[in-house]
Amino acid sequence: MLIAQISDLHIQLGGKYEHLISARRHLAACVDALNALLPRPDLVVATGDLTEHGSHDEYRVLKQELARLKTPFLLIAGNHDDPANLRANFPEHVWMRDAAPFLQYTIDTWPLRIVALDTTLPRRSEGELCAARLEWLAQTLAEQPGRPTLILMHHPPFETGIKRMDELGLLKGREAFAKVIEPYRNIERVLCGHLHRSIVCRVGSTVASTCPGTAHQIELDLRDEAELSFNFEPPGYQLHWLSPQGLVSHHAVIGDFPGPHVF
Ligand SMILES: [Fe+2]
Ligand SMILES: [Fe+2]
Repeated sequence: MLIAQISDLHIQLGGKYEHLISARRHLAACVDALNALLPRPDLVVATGDLTEHGSHDEYRVLKQELARLKTPFLLIAGNHDDPANLRANFPEHVWMRDAAPFLQYTIDTWPLRIVALDTTLPRRSEGELCAARLEWLAQTLAEQPGRPTLILMHHPPFETGIKRMDELGLLKGREAFAKVIEPYRNIERVLCGHLHRSIVCRVGSTVASTCPGTAHQIELDLRDEAELSFNFEPPGYQLHWLSPQGLVSHHAVIGDFPGPHVF
């Protein structure tokens, strides 16, 4: 099974950075890149911040672009999203209503079981996993403890060293989350967004990672005093291959570069 992960699309119509970020144009280029992949992924997952303001108009644009994907896709909410508006614009994604008011669900149709978690708080940038969400996770993981499983969540359950982002991170429930997943050796990966960069860290008995943004990236600056900044390093996605040994993850950039040159 092959899964492409995209994140932090930030589709926006208006706003002070729209002209700079061109989120729709970047998403279109990302969709073209994913459609050109051979072998074609079985699934695309988008790990939140799908839009900038969570408006119906932004979700309509998002839907128009994602409709060009030749691959089924799954969505989760980020801190910039509005879960109610997201559900309303993708009514065919009936699973997004399974754990309302939280946008959490499981998908059991692929060799890798997908467990999507909602880390968002209304109108807040930071994330949280409250007792109710963690209880849902504990029950969900207990259902199929022997099956390879992938957890999707927007805020990563680890500190990254990018201080201003860590202050907007998963501030509550991080340690409890690690405890809930610790006993499960079948969790292949915790796939996250929010950081607009590729970062990897061990959490519990598995590995958690973040994904580049499809448009702008967060500046890699680990100084305590660094201001929160974005840049236009090449956007990218991740390609996760379920091999016989486990999940193998590739970082891919979107753009035209010289090559390939055959050795
Ligand atoms: Fe984001
Ligand atoms: Fe975010």
